[in-house]
Amino acid sequence: MTGLLCITIISVALAGGAYSFVTPPPFTLFTVKVVADLGANVTMPCMLMSKDHSLSDAGVRVKWTKVADDEALNEDVILSMGVHKKTYGNFENRVFLEEKGDHEDASLTILDVSMADTGKYLCEITNGMTDTVQEVTLEVLGDFTAGVVFPYHSEVGRYNLDYDTAVLACLAQGAVVASPEQLYEAWEAGLDWCNAGWLNDGSVQYPITNPRAPCGGSNNGPGLRNYGQMDKNKTYDVYCYTAAPKGEAFYVMLCAVVKMCPTNPQR
Ligand SMILES: *[C@@H]1O[C@H](CO)[C@@H](O)[C@H](O)[C@H]1NC(C)=O
Ligand SMILES: *[C@@H]1O[C@H](CO)[C@@H](O)[C@H](O)[C@H]1NC(C)=O
Repeated sequence: MTGLLCITIISVALAGGAYSFVTPPPFTLFTVKVVADLGANVTMPCMLMSKDHSLSDAGVRVKWTKVADDEALNEDVILSMGVHKKTYGNFENRVFLEEKGDHEDASLTILDVSMADTGKYLCEITNGMTDTVQEVTLEVLGDFTAGVVFPYHSEVGRYNLDYDTAVLACLAQGAVVASPEQLYEAWEAGLDWCNAGWLNDGSVQYPITNPRAPCGGSNNGPGLRNYGQMDKNKTYDVYCYTAAPKGEAFYVMLCAVVKMCPTNPQR
């Protein structure tokens, strides 16, 4: 089942301009933006504009390209001529054309999208001469577009926050104490932090992606190290969660401190 999460048509550009090499007119170039969650299956639309022929006609070629700023770095995604299909590189075996209806549908489905799939794509349907060009921008949303988990310790040093003080410390950062699920997601996204901190269920845990002796043992696999529910008068650090990081400086600071910047380089 293909999950198409959200399509927004953000602008309509007319033939000419950047694509003046395209013949014959008239055709319309829409710029479509597709937004998908990390790991989703996503379909990027491209329909044959001309009714004169169908995608199954001999000599009709569909080509999807991932367009880089530097043209030399463009990546082929799929090439299709009739029954012959070829997928390329990183797209091999995880993309296919929809080809629904009257063989006019050259929409591309990508399975299990990754952050690296973010970018601009070009669909070209040609019959000797290009007669349809469709530009689609794909944005893949990472786990942290909705929020950020960050470790926090008291100004006077490590392990100085009892549970109630930890709650106030997160509030003072414009955040709340993170849930075990939020810390787990942060761990999945690569957070590695060797200080035990309070979570909002009263447990004390910390996320380890690179197991090592001082951080819960090097023989244990990666995961959350969990002390379980602790006496709320005991003092640890805390993991805070904020849905909306305030301002760039805060954001950059988080990235520097916990090495968990969202992996989307364009964000
Ligand atoms: C994506 O499609 C594949 C193959 O059709 C399917 O196995 C998988 O469950 C789908 N994933 C999602 C997130 O819908
Ligand atoms: C925690 O500290 C408070 C105030 O100091 C005290 O009243 C309470 O009994 C303590 N609780 C535990 C579980 O030690």
